[in-house]
Amino acid sequence: MVEKHKLLVEKAKIILNNNWLGKSTKPAPDLYPHQWNWDSGFIAIGYSGYNQERAQQELSTLFKAQWKNGMLPQIVFNSEALGGYFPEPDFWQCERSPHYPDGVLTSGITMPPVHGIAALHIYQYATNKDLALEWLDDMYPRIYSLHEYFYRERDPNNEGLVYIRHPWESGLDNSPTWDIPLKAIVIDKNKLPEYERKDLKKGVPQSQRPSDDDYDRYVFLVDLFRRLRYEENAIYQECPFLIQDPLFNSILSKANEDLAKIGHILGKDTTQLEEWHEQTNRSLRKKMWHEHHGAFDAFDLLTGKRIETLTASGFLPLLCGAPTKENAQSIYHFLESNSFCPMHNHSCFSIPNYDLQGEYLDPKNYWRGPVWINTNWLLMKGLERYGFKEKAESVREDIIELVKRWGFHEYFDPYRGTGYGTDNFSWTAALFIDSLIE
Ligand code: SER
Repeated sequence: MVEKHKLLVEKAKIILNNNWLGKSTKPAPDLYPHQWNWDSGFIAIGYSGYNQERAQQELSTLFKAQWKNGMLPQIVFNSEALGGYFPEPDFWQCERSPHYPDGVLTSGITMPPVHGIAALHIYQYATNKDLALEWLDDMYPRIYSLHEYFYRERDPNNEGLVYIRHPWESGLDNSPTWDIPLKAIVIDKNKLPEYERKDLKKGVPQSQRPSDDDYDRYVFLVDLFRRLRYEENAIYQECPFLIQDPLFNSILSKANEDLAKIGHILGKDTTQLEEWHEQTNRSLRKKMWHEHHGAFDAFDLLTGKRIETLTASGFLPLLCGAPTKENAQSIYHFLESNSFCPMHNHSCFSIPNYDLQGEYLDPKNYWRGPVWINTNWLLMKGLERYGFKEKAESVREDIIELVKRWGFHEYFDPYRGTGYGTDNFSWTAALFIDSLIE
């Protein structure tokens, strides 16, 4: 398939090359001028098909910014691009934390831990296995300590389900799932630090971006974390946003499974990773499966209730093997309904990020309806895992078709396919390449 789409593959490589910063890749030319955590995982997956060294370097650079407690930051700032994004290091003030690493500038939250998945992918595709083994040997303890951080500091009930404490940590910033918990945060504008959104000055209309009310809450949470010096216990006591999210936990669980495979290759004892994988899967099934919907819900630790919005995150447990065969069958039927665009339906693209029949659908707006290539790539893997071959293929075809028709956009209209958000987007380019190779 690479040959068939040769020109587009060349274009994808040019995009990645233009977004290359010397040691890592920015997600997009202007809107996201630094290194982002899960973006780099997907970007490395794309590189692994044609440039092993760069794939390895992408993740190595990211992990140089790992905090002393194991946390891997959401953003590693590019000191040459400071001034073009909000919030930057002066706002995060991460130096207040005793865990802040030396010699780098980072934000103070994390993101879905795709790195174990990416590292195994890089090894599998590596043309120079010796080099890959040497690299894995260095990466293994770093990724392991990230997972340790999650289970030690973000799993207060010791149930194998970690919480996120900021919508940016989910990667799905303004998903309708966060509407209820975010609305419950009452903002006193007089006490909110002054700030200026930079994202609205980069040519993407506000209608495709999170609202100002959302941003006030994003800022409120960052202000809370810096006041508490990024101490997790204190944050856990005070933070008004503590959510166990199916996408985040499924990625962590799958990363445990893949890191255990890496551990086997390196001759390590992987018992703990296997236990984490099983425990997380068990708890996903027990606590988050919604029989009536045929999807997994997020769980709000503050209200003690599930958040019953229907987003593509609810299907992500397919990736880590949490659903039973019956659960998987229900998910399949739901994915094949008009809510998420069934196969062979030429009036929509799979898989929209939010229920097409849902009350809050906004097909142009960021995580409130559009189709995203990264979640589709993960869902494709999950569908393959459960043997839904035809459906997985149709997701792959839509990834290719969207790029072919509309280019390397950040996200796409679930009906018309129109590309939205920023253009020349790195993970769209990277995962497009990978989808052709498989
Ligand atoms: N996606 C975020 C932004 O829009 C950051 O993670 O800036």
